[in-house]
Amino acid sequence: MKFCRPVVWFCLAICSFLSVNGDDPTVIQVDAAVVIKKSSSHNISIIGNEFMLDGEPLHIMSGSLHYFRLPAVYWQDRLRKLKAAGLNSVSTYVEWSFHEPEERQYSFEKDRDIAAFVRLAAAEGLHVLLRPGPYICAERDLGGIPYWLLGKYPNIKLRTTDKEFIKESTIWLAKLFEQLTPLLFGNGGPIILVQVENEYGSYGRDMEYMEQMRDLILEYVGTNALLYTTDGPGPSYYTNGFVNGALTTIDFGPGYDVVQAYDTLRRFMPSGPLMNSEFYPGWLTHWGESFQQASTEAVVGTLRTMLDNKINVNVYVFFGGTNFEFTSGANYGTAYQPDITSYDYDAPLNEAGDPTPKYYAIRNLLKQYNFVEDNRPEPSPSPKGAYGTITLRPKVQLLSNESRNVLGIEYSPIAGAILPTFEELRQRSGMILYETTLGSADGQLSIKKPRDWIYVYVDGKLQGVINRMFKRYTLVLRSSVDSVLSLLVENQGRINFGPYLHDRKGILSAVEYNGVPLRGNWSITGFPLECVSKMQVPKLIDPKLSEGPVVYESKLVLPQGQMSLDTFLDTTGWGRGYVWVNGYNLGRYWPGLGPQVTLYVPGVWLKAAPKSNLIQVLELERSPDSLTMEFLDYPILNRTHTYPG
Ligand SMILES: *[C@@H]1O[C@H](CO)[C@@H](O)[C@H](O)[C@H]1NC(C)=O
Ligand SMILES: *[C@@H]1O[C@H](CO)[C@@H](O)[C@H](O)[C@H]1NC(C)=O
Ligand SMILES: *[C@@H]1O[C@H](CO)[C@@H](O)[C@H](O)[C@H]1NC(C)=O
Ligand SMILES: *[C@@H]1O[C@H](CO)[C@@H](O)[C@H](O)[C@H]1NC(C)=O
Repeated sequence: MKFCRPVVWFCLAICSFLSVNGDDPTVIQVDAAVVIKKSSSHNISIIGNEFMLDGEPLHIMSGSLHYFRLPAVYWQDRLRKLKAAGLNSVSTYVEWSFHEPEERQYSFEKDRDIAAFVRLAAAEGLHVLLRPGPYICAERDLGGIPYWLLGKYPNIKLRTTDKEFIKESTIWLAKLFEQLTPLLFGNGGPIILVQVENEYGSYGRDMEYMEQMRDLILEYVGTNALLYTTDGPGPSYYTNGFVNGALTTIDFGPGYDVVQAYDTLRRFMPSGPLMNSEFYPGWLTHWGESFQQASTEAVVGTLRTMLDNKINVNVYVFFGGTNFEFTSGANYGTAYQPDITSYDYDAPLNEAGDPTPKYYAIRNLLKQYNFVEDNRPEPSPSPKGAYGTITLRPKVQLLSNESRNVLGIEYSPIAGAILPTFEELRQRSGMILYETTLGSADGQLSIKKPRDWIYVYVDGKLQGVINRMFKRYTLVLRSSVDSVLSLLVENQGRINFGPYLHDRKGILSAVEYNGVPLRGNWSITGFPLECVSKMQVPKLIDPKLSEGPVVYESKLVLPQGQMSLDTFLDTTGWGRGYVWVNGYNLGRYWPGLGPQVTLYVPGVWLKAAPKSNLIQVLELERSPDSLTMEFLDYPILNRTHTYPG
């Protein structure tokens, strides 16, 4: 998934590309039979311009669905709906940071059971297009690369032949393929295609790196599936992004000139299947933008042209889901642009997995091209819960001693002007509080590199913010000689695309007061906010957001005798923060900026009556007088404001 594209166009390369064996570059003959040790025996190959599966041509009609953006309980439902639309394949990225969030701490269970997801896809009759990265972009924190790489290796160069990056990628891919090798097509599994890197042509120009990435993957995939690359629709992208032995595929959205795109590709790749491996039915949205959409007519029109031209297609995304917790990434165009929590994407299946008019239109089109199996009924939207209003009660001030004891981590104090980053402290997410004494009366605070949003308190009282997003780097303070300065820094998501990928968080420049760097002792307290559910503190009587963020709590009891349904939490009137439901982090809310106003709550995270559900809110800025939030049976993703809203 790309964000912006460089305008450099290179001349067409004259080399040839596809062959992994034999002299004929137009044939990739991947012969699984040779290496099969199991009872099943399958082969996938490219012959001429077609994918061949066990001797039968396959026109790939795929949809992206990322297992890491929804609870595992819903995987089967979404896969079934893909299939019912006429798709024969599902494509997923694999997110390294989801499985190795901290160094050598692996998780492949429950929502992280990638092998179970792939097996479910097979059970639903879908082939799988696997995109193991290790870099995936995907609008996820650091493009799916674990944050700790930036802490462990201060000079690491991601997505290059850098020794450390290759070493860590090697260790990771070995772990991943322990899970997935049995599920490759040649081994009897559903994985037919495996992507090498991800849109590398819009990032770098280093064939040695691409060959190393290919070889890392080839070591596990061998002849049991085909390799491919994905790049933008222009010569500079695929000449920099292709690698020998992998099929070059391109990506573009509705309205793009299909015939011209593939004429151009054909001059580079004389034969082999043509594919759009990311056809965009909608688009990603950043905080502060309008909700990004694509018209159904345009999507269907371009899809029809691709079908008429025998183009293989993967719809990116067919189902988007949600960036729960602290997983949203960010882009950097002319400024830092964090992504919203929802990954609805205006996709055919919406954030809650319901078919939209776009879904039905695509299904009708695919019917005309005989993709839809007759025995597959058309799915309909599932019921949603309108659970009404809750009143939240203040529980604790984040910066209070009680909260520091329960939610905080006290790091070693530091003397000097350079502050340790989140990554150096090995804190992935949440907030870090840096405190020192100012040493002079009233003046101007200046922080040139805030990462990302800094609440500035003097003697415990909020005086304003410094932030990266709106480029506010200075703030005039009222202070006295012995005033304490508290800087509460929020990580709003690491950049996932482009040249600013190495996005360390915290304060990257000196903190200056009246032009002089503050070098006194800094005390440092981390609030990773990975778990707030176990918090036992006395009730808070008189919360003041001017003295720091406040945690609020409430309980929700569902109507008697009803199953728990998906619902949407309306945060209208609140400022900015995070919500946990029974300990599950729903993600960021920021209704005053928008366009997202509701947070999606999966029904499976709610308990049916008579049990009650614990709702916790960390509010950073302001609360409405009513202190209420409402559970709606519909989402609001399109209400735009101008900051501060
Ligand atoms: C591939 O599979 C088809 C169908 O099972 C079979 O006819 C063909 O011989 C196989 N090709 C190779 C190279 O094994
Ligand atoms: C909080 O802790 C600090 C440091 O231990 C102490 O100086 C201060 O008095 C405490 N504040 C309250 C309100 O207990
Ligand atoms: C910083 O703290 C250390 C240890 O507490 C102390 O010895 C030193 O004097 C302090 N320096 C400043 C500038 O406050
Ligand atoms: C937001 O979306 C709703 C539901 O699709 C629609 O009715 C409404 O007109 C939209 N509002 C704006 C401002 O686009």
